[in-house]
Amino acid sequence: MNIRYLTSDPLQADLDLLGILCHDDTLESDLLLARADAVLSNLLRAAIGEERFVARPGQTLTLHTRGDVRPRRLILIGCGPTAGASVASNRIAAGRLARAAAAVGARSVGLVLPANTPTLPVRLQLQSAAEGFQLGLYRFDKYLDATKRSPLSIQSLSVFGSAPTAGEDAPAIIARATETARAVSQARSLVNEPAGFMTPQRLAEIAQQVARETGLELTLLDRAACREKGMGLFLAVAQGSAEEPRFIHLAWKPERASKRVVLIGKGVTFDSGGLSLKTNDGMLDMKTDMSGAAAVLSAIEAVARQKLPVEVHALAACTENMPSGTAYKLGDVIRSMAGKTIEITNTDAEGRLTLADAITYGLELKPDFIFDFATLTGACVVALGPHIAGVMSNNDALAATWLASAKEAGEEMWHLPLPPRLLDQLKSEIADLKNTGERWGGALTAGLFLKEFLDATPWIHVDLAGPASTDKELGHVSKGGTGFGVATILQFLSGLTSTQPAAQQ
Ligand code: BES
Ligand code: MN
Ligand code: ZN
Repeated sequence: MNIRYLTSDPLQADLDLLGILCHDDTLESDLLLARADAVLSNLLRAAIGEERFVARPGQTLTLHTRGDVRPRRLILIGCGPTAGASVASNRIAAGRLARAAAAVGARSVGLVLPANTPTLPVRLQLQSAAEGFQLGLYRFDKYLDATKRSPLSIQSLSVFGSAPTAGEDAPAIIARATETARAVSQARSLVNEPAGFMTPQRLAEIAQQVARETGLELTLLDRAACREKGMGLFLAVAQGSAEEPRFIHLAWKPERASKRVVLIGKGVTFDSGGLSLKTNDGMLDMKTDMSGAAAVLSAIEAVARQKLPVEVHALAACTENMPSGTAYKLGDVIRSMAGKTIEITNTDAEGRLTLADAITYGLELKPDFIFDFATLTGACVVALGPHIAGVMSNNDALAATWLASAKEAGEEMWHLPLPPRLLDQLKSEIADLKNTGERWGGALTAGLFLKEFLDATPWIHVDLAGPASTDKELGHVSKGGTGFGVATILQFLSGLTSTQPAAQQ
């Protein structure tokens, strides 16, 4: 799709559909709407009144122009109050426009950005619109009958703004947004694939293909190689499954890199709970338990495609968690790669085990920062709901930078504490640690468990059990895997390398 940014008159543009993003408090005074209304013999204002369009989020109004203005259709997209304008709200609106355009088979589409949004500079308006529009077109339809798949009609998107972008060129912003949308879409697809297809071996093959295409360096460890490394925890989780585990390590090592960053993603391709078996309902969505791995593998691909001058390593310890005659058992004591022994009190707390060995492997790379992304606890969903990720860290400065990146990327994250007192819950009589604590504060004890495997390296743990997948469509987000995390990772990494401060327009 061809995307460009224009400051010319959208009413003069030859388009199948022109979407106009409207805020409720400026609906009356909007100059573009007034001009369109005048040309359309006041039909627009009449329709706004009759359809009770007040620019509430989610509200849309479509009008056929019959050639009175050049775009063949206008669609007004409600965005709520101007003061609430954000990357997230803009991306949702652009996603809505994309769906509406696809539904009517439009080929050329325009999107008018709202003028005067003090909370949202033009740069971020354009970025979020370009990203949201492309993500709104995402579909996972490969298992559907051809008659149920709608071919994509859209060939061009023209984004209209009232001011030039400051700092970065519009084409560069659009290129970055396109890379982000592509990476988010890729992560969604990895998550949406059924677990019967997306096995650890399949993820390894995909990593191989990515490495071939982008020049990333790939290290793949099979069961024997992991044993040699002493990854006892990861292999304990893997031992109940008929699928072979795979430890994936992709590396992007540009010359003159300013920083080295390790990104770890939880790669449990199916979490049955193991012998601590989940219920049917609890297991239903557990093909998504590799969402963290999907995020880091997709993000590093985008890093390589954009040749970012920062060294990045993506790690994913991939396995199923299954009950069987060979499965790890309650009461087992397992030695981690770090040397610590762990008493297994619940085989369904498998994520932290796979992550602990991945963290030990990651620290050997001597990174400046280490991150992990994991669908780790139902408790985090109870605490923050289905759309917000929990962020835990051993470094407040890094956490602040990370949360600022999340905000710019339009992904909701919330800083949670790691209260030392709760560590008592993980004390074991016969091993260094137990793998589960008590019921209350489950997201925090999981974070505290991981922290035991860290040194002084600044670390961020993102529990994305809630936002990694969704059963409700919203603008640019489709049902199923959301690709959560990718946008913030890319925002953070480009912030590390950019020559201008992130706060600048
Ligand atoms: N993969 C799950 C966490 C999860 C739950 C992700 C719901 C997405 C939605 C994780 O492995 C798990 O089972 N965690 C347990 C931990 C408990 C046994 C301490 C949980 O949250 O119940
Ligand atoms: Mn589990
Ligand atoms: Zn799990």
